[in-house]
Amino acid sequence: MLVIHDCDTLRKWARAWKTSGRLVGFVPTMGALHEGHLALIRRARRECERVIVSIFVNPLQFGPGEDYARYPRPFEKDRALCEKEGVDLLYHGQVEDFYPSDFRTTVSVRELTEVLCGPHRPGHFDGVCTVVTKLLLRTMPDIAYFGRKDYQQAVVVRRMVRDLDIPCEIRLVDTVRDSDGLALSSRNAYLSGEERKAALCLWKGLSRAHSLYKAGERRVGELRSACLRVIEGEPKAKLQYADIVDPQTLRPYRDEEILQGPAVFAVAAFVGTTRLIDNILLA
Ligand code: PAJ
Repeated sequence: MLVIHDCDTLRKWARAWKTSGRLVGFVPTMGALHEGHLALIRRARRECERVIVSIFVNPLQFGPGEDYARYPRPFEKDRALCEKEGVDLLYHGQVEDFYPSDFRTTVSVRELTEVLCGPHRPGHFDGVCTVVTKLLLRTMPDIAYFGRKDYQQAVVVRRMVRDLDIPCEIRLVDTVRDSDGLALSSRNAYLSGEERKAALCLWKGLSRAHSLYKAGERRVGELRSACLRVIEGEPKAKLQYADIVDPQTLRPYRDEEILQGPAVFAVAAFVGTTRLIDNILLA
């Protein structure tokens, strides 16, 4: 496995693979790899001839007071995992190389970023869009893989790639969960034992709504309150939002509405100081 820290060498390999007609898959990450990331890497390994993984904790997507400084960075462990999964190239970018002091550009997607996590994390999606654009231009993949766990991010990136004519297909991979249902996340490492138990309320709330949906409930208000009751019943959790949205436009449905087609139920909550998100498809 090639381990590359600078953009020039990365480009050299990316260009060589492109010229020789290899199908290149790309998995962007911020490291602290877990089975969720590995699911993306394995899918890329199955579907592509060359697999590039990037590890870069992107300062632009963290707000002031968020966890940029303490975000876990277990690079050697991550490198070993990538090696084991048969990754061809691991790109470990450096902040100065991404954002020199005279860096002035922001990539921004309207509307899709103004709902769900958007209002709670100002600037976050601009940071994601800017870095993903740079990563895609640097790696030039045929296919890039994103997790459904960060559903809004995936929809925003897909729209950005289409709007900017970036020649890359975005493929989504299902959320990988712990055996009790908690969505895997690098941030789960912050949770204490008690908080880990409390964190399950996100999944329990979504599951409750999903069971009602399966039983035929289509009233948005009823589905939302079923989920809210579970999350608000957990004293260690502080809900940020619990919204049922259109899967493509991310427009939130109002409580008075009746679902006519598929929808995504997305939630965000703090458990202690850790912000967690999860979602489920209602279809
Ligand atoms: P990160 O949180 O490291 O996640 C990298 C990719 O792994 C994302 O596409 C995310 O949706 C996916 N992922 C995380 N947990 C998952 C799980 N439990 N199941 C399935 N997929 C999961 O998302 C980012 O990094 C950054 O915003 C990035 C896109 C790299 C830009 O900096």
